[in-house]
Amino acid sequence: MSASLSSIDTPALLLEPGRMDANIARMRTHLAALGVQMRPHVKTSKSIDATRRLFDNGTGSITVSTLREARYFFEHGLTDILYGVAIAPNRFAQAAELIRAGARLKLVLDSAETAALLADYARTHAQSFDVLLEIDCDGHRSGLPPTSPLIVEIARTLRAGGIDVQGVMTHAGNSYDSRSTDDILRYARQERDAVVVAAQGLRDAGFAAPIVSVGSTPTALFADDLTGVTEVRAGVFVFFDLVMAGLGVCRQTDIAVSVLTSVIGHQPEKGWTIVDAGWMALSRDRGTAAQAVDQGYGVVCDVDGKPLDDLIVIGANQEHGIVARRDHATQHAHGPHLPVGTPLRILPNHACATSAQHAGYHVLDGQRVTDYWPRISGW
Ligand SMILES: Cc1ncc(COP(=O)(O)O)c(C=O)c1O
Repeated sequence: MSASLSSIDTPALLLEPGRMDANIARMRTHLAALGVQMRPHVKTSKSIDATRRLFDNGTGSITVSTLREARYFFEHGLTDILYGVAIAPNRFAQAAELIRAGARLKLVLDSAETAALLADYARTHAQSFDVLLEIDCDGHRSGLPPTSPLIVEIARTLRAGGIDVQGVMTHAGNSYDSRSTDDILRYARQERDAVVVAAQGLRDAGFAAPIVSVGSTPTALFADDLTGVTEVRAGVFVFFDLVMAGLGVCRQTDIAVSVLTSVIGHQPEKGWTIVDAGWMALSRDRGTAAQAVDQGYGVVCDVDGKPLDDLIVIGANQEHGIVARRDHATQHAHGPHLPVGTPLRILPNHACATSAQHAGYHVLDGQRVTDYWPRISGW
C-alpha cells in the first residue's frame, strides 16, 4: 500500500520505522557490550510486526504484560515468554493451557499466598510452571525486599508442589522520577544489586536460580555494569516518548510514534487551536507534569514532524485537544494561525499509553503511509 498522509482519517497513530530501528539498534549495542541478553517488553507496541524488528531473525525471548499478549505472540511463533505481572489465581488454568500448547511461559509472583495456591494447582493438575520471584528494588510498587526470608520460604513452598523457582526479576520503576542521568545510573546499580543479592540468597539455599532479570528503559540504557544479571526487559525504548526525552534518555527526534490530527476550530481570544485528538487519541498520561518541562498532553509538530513554535496540547477532552503556546497563561499567548483542516502531529508523553488508544500503526516512509500494523488490546 502507499497513501498520502492527507488521505488518512484523523486522529491516527503514525510510526516511523527508521527511528524505531535506530532505537532498537542503540539498545542492542549497549546491552551486547554489557554481555546480557535482551528480553524486550513488547507491551509498548503489542504488535508482531514491530516485535519482529527487535530480533535478527524475527524471533526471540520477550516479556508481556497480559496473558492475552502471551497468547498472541505465542500464536505468532514466539515461545519464550515472561509474563511480567504477578499471576492471579483465576489465570492459572490459562497459563497451564499455554504451557501445554508449547509456550515456555514464565510466571511472576511475590506472595506466599499465590505460591501456596500455585503449588496446590500444580499438584492437583500434575502441571509444572516456571516461576520467577519478583524483587522490590526501589519501593515502586510490588516485590519482596532482596534479603527477605520469604524469598526462600516461597521457593520451598513452590518446590513442594513440584515447581522449581527459575530465578528473580525486578523493575526499577522509580528511575522515571530521576532528576539527572547520574540518578538513573544509581537506580541501575540499585536494580542490579537487588536481584543479584536475592538470587544469591536462593542459591545459598539450594535453588539454582539461573535467571536474573532487570529492566526499565532508563536503567537499561545507563547501566554501566550488569555483572550477575542475565537479561534486560526494556520496553518503551522501541518508540521512546516525551517522558524519556525529559529524562535525557533520548532526543525528541528519536520518538518514533506520533498522533496525526486535524485542526477543527479556534478560540482566537484565548490563543487556542482546537484539534480532533483528545484523550481518546493521546491518552490521559501526564507523565511530564513533574518534569522540568511540562509538555501538557503532547508536543505539537507540523505534518513533517517538526515541533511548532512551542505549541503543546494544554487540554484534552474525549475527542477535543486544546493546542496553545506553552506560556498560555500570559497575555501574548497567541500561537500561529493554523487554518481549519491543517494536519498536525502530536508527540506522546508516554508511548505505551498513547499507542494503546489505537487499533494499529500507520507506518510511514517519508510522507507516505506504506503499511498498517495492527496491535492487540485486552487482557
Ligand atoms: C515488569 C516490567 N518490566 C519491564 C518494563 C519495561 O520498562 P520500560 O518501558 O521503562 O522499558 C516494565 C514497564 O512498566 C515492567 O512493568
